[in-house]
Amino acid sequence: MATPHIRAEKGDIAEKILLPGDPLRAKFISENFLQNSVQFNDIRNMLGFTGIYKGEKVSVMGTGMGVSSIGIYSYELIKFFDVKKLIRVGTCGSYKKDVGLHDIILAQGASTNSNFQSQYELNGTYSAISSFNLLERAANILREKNYKFHVGGVLTSDIFYEPDENSYKKWASLGVLAVEMETYALYCNASRLGAEALSILSVSDQLVTKEAVKTDDREKAFTKMMEVALEI
Ligand code: HPA
Repeated sequence: MATPHIRAEKGDIAEKILLPGDPLRAKFISENFLQNSVQFNDIRNMLGFTGIYKGEKVSVMGTGMGVSSIGIYSYELIKFFDVKKLIRVGTCGSYKKDVGLHDIILAQGASTNSNFQSQYELNGTYSAISSFNLLERAANILREKNYKFHVGGVLTSDIFYEPDENSYKKWASLGVLAVEMETYALYCNASRLGAEALSILSVSDQLVTKEAVKTDDREKAFTKMMEVALEI
């Protein structure tokens, strides 16, 4: 069985999947954290793998960047491959001075400037929230490991290159911690299709101080979140 974007048989993909944006990061996780890993997807090079972590079957697959891309992959994973727990492991840009580079954010909920929710034809706006079950487990693991983390809302934006570099301040004034580009769609699809989802984000850009993690250091920073995501 294959969908337009995922070439796999039912059962090839575990109930739990880690979702980095970059398919090469999926390969990295597969090679460094999983045993007996088998690749299940190659369509568009959106690499997906299933292996074993501490005796448990777990998958990992790239999502690409943005609401449309993760919207497609998360929909197909839940609807056609019966995936039940989806954990995004990604990066974000911090909107708060006290949320520094390499800090971890658990995205409790997501706001958006995307039009994704228009498909539901609601007579209001939808607040996309994480699975409390996954959120609570992630927070407990982070506490045990003594990793610095924050829990709160993020903005899922369609725009990476904002024309007004101060526009983030309005979101920050409402307590939004950081910006990324996928979580809102992931949470919508999980809620709509009866799965659980959580985004674990590592701060790679600081919009207040204008610092950024160097490209070569990014891999190291991700290792922390992978550990947490795998342990959930
Ligand atoms: N903006 C949007 N998405 C991001 C950023 C950013 O600054 N950093 C990492 N993901």
